[in-house]
Amino acid sequence: MLLAAVEDTEQVGYRLAQTLVAGDLVVLDGPLGAGKTAMTRGIAAGLGVTGRVSSPTFVIAREHRPGERPGGLPPVALVHVDAYRLGMTGQSALDELDALDLDSDLADAVVVVEWGEGLVEALSDGHIAVRIRRDPDTDVRRVRVSRVAAP
Ligand SMILES: Nc1ncnc2c1ncn2[C@@H]1O[C@H](COP(=O)(O)OP(=O)(O)OP(=O)(O)O)[C@@H](O)[C@H]1O
Ligand SMILES: [Mg+2]
Repeated sequence: MLLAAVEDTEQVGYRLAQTLVAGDLVVLDGPLGAGKTAMTRGIAAGLGVTGRVSSPTFVIAREHRPGERPGGLPPVALVHVDAYRLGMTGQSALDELDALDLDSDLADAVVVVEWGEGLVEALSDGHIAVRIRRDPDTDVRRVRVSRVAAP
């Protein structure tokens, strides 16, 4: 699907959110500036959670508490993770990931991860893969959303 403007990316996130329940792991895969945080903003709006979504620069994971969820769906929290810096402090990325304790977050939240592909999939049996690609010449972005079953 084509993402002409940032609002389109947010809209895809908003719609995806209507299908999400606690325990769902969303892995956002895309290069720098692709729109992963914009997508998360849409997911957050679609879940109706509290707080503004921004790039978690100083923290790796940020929890947004449940709010009123559009469509009368059961409220759910959102944990937004930016795994970009995992493994950059000398510790292994896997150890740092373990320390975040996302397993327990997954019990009652939707967990959305930027820069986590190839690492965080093991946290859950099955995840939602969102792949965003940007053509550097035309700035055109495309997104593909797929549910990936556990191997
Ligand atoms: N169709 C689009 N979808 C998403 N973002 C867009 C689009 N067109 C332009 N943009 C701009 O591209 C930027 C995307 O930034 P965003 O922080 O969402 O990317 P990111 O993938 O999270 O980056 P990072 O890798 O730094 O975390 C924003 O400045 C946004 O306004
Ligand atoms: Mg980002």
